[in-house]
Amino acid sequence: MNDVTVSKDGQHLEVETTAGRLRFHAIWLRDNASDAGTRSLQNGQRLITLQDIPQDTRIGAVALSDHTLTVGFQPEDKTITYDIDWLVQNAYDRPLPARAGWVAEGIETWDHHLMDAVPSAQYGDVASSPRALRAWLSRFARYGFAKLSGGPVHDQALMGIVDWFGHVRETNYGRHFEVRTEVNPTNLAFTGLGLQAHTDNPYRDPVPTLQLLYCLESSAAGGENMVVDGFAVARRLQEENPDWFDVLSRHCARFEYAGADDVLLQSRRPMIELAPDGELIAVRFNNRSAAAITDVPFDEMALYYQAYRRMGDIIDDPAMEVSFRLNPGDSFLVDNTRVLHARKGYSGSGTRWLQGCYADKDALLSKLAVLRAQHPEAAQ
Ligand code: OGA
Ligand code: ZN
Repeated sequence: MNDVTVSKDGQHLEVETTAGRLRFHAIWLRDNASDAGTRSLQNGQRLITLQDIPQDTRIGAVALSDHTLTVGFQPEDKTITYDIDWLVQNAYDRPLPARAGWVAEGIETWDHHLMDAVPSAQYGDVASSPRALRAWLSRFARYGFAKLSGGPVHDQALMGIVDWFGHVRETNYGRHFEVRTEVNPTNLAFTGLGLQAHTDNPYRDPVPTLQLLYCLESSAAGGENMVVDGFAVARRLQEENPDWFDVLSRHCARFEYAGADDVLLQSRRPMIELAPDGELIAVRFNNRSAAAITDVPFDEMALYYQAYRRMGDIIDDPAMEVSFRLNPGDSFLVDNTRVLHARKGYSGSGTRWLQGCYADKDALLSKLAVLRAQHPEAAQ
């Protein structure tokens, strides 16, 4: 059934695979050769630049077996063998998604129904088993947040969690910050006020991609946490009115933090961020640190504010939220580029004390990829 044909000019070939007929360009194939002259055997890094490959590279002879495709390149007179499975996995011969706002494979958007299956695990299990860590990180990657219960209750216990997958991202708030009522708070988070669902530090560029909040005390009434899937919010907004989605993704908002004398952080980024091909990649939303919006043309400002208001309505809709109460030793990790977090106000007798810190999602995803390679048989 397998066959391969080369275009007359040798600029591309077409090969029959389990995923259908796929086309590949000569220059793409040559650039992605994995022979010892092209890639280091030690670390897999490419040894040559594109300039080392002749501009007039073309396909000469080809040969197909069950699992490999062998291609001869001219004018180099170089022969390279490709694994067909690798070609299928890396194929690009497909149409672009028709509509902006699509999400990457492996991401599942959610609303309050996820209350029945909140991604969570026991601290002790994850601390002692790479398989449990893999499963917890997997759920985090799919849903953009995950809880942990039953952890130790001591100062900076949250650092133990970050150590499982990466490094703390230090900011002007410190390596970690205390989330409790303070007399002269540098941030409204350090009061008993309720906080509308938000992403943290949108005034930073890049934003911290992970936030961890870890509970040490929670005897005060109130203070429950909520999380909302910003990607689900953006897609609902788009379904309700594509113009709202477009206006928030095509124009930059501005964010600013000047809550302490020695800091003046400012950013200019959209509330809904898309990749050039329309992939939904980030949401920024924070009523406390939104600055004057000055990058929306006059004629679109009224529409922009309609869209911004509606985005807030959707964020505040209980149908979108998953809520829980953190007890001492409980924590949750959020993907701060996607999932918004909130807390109810608290007051009266008793205490509420969380410690928070930031870290990097790329390191977490790297750890997950390594665990997946090491434990391929584990569920998820
Ligand atoms: C924060 C925050 C929520 C809470 O510190 O960024 O949103 O539960 N805190 O106190
Ligand atoms: Zn916050």
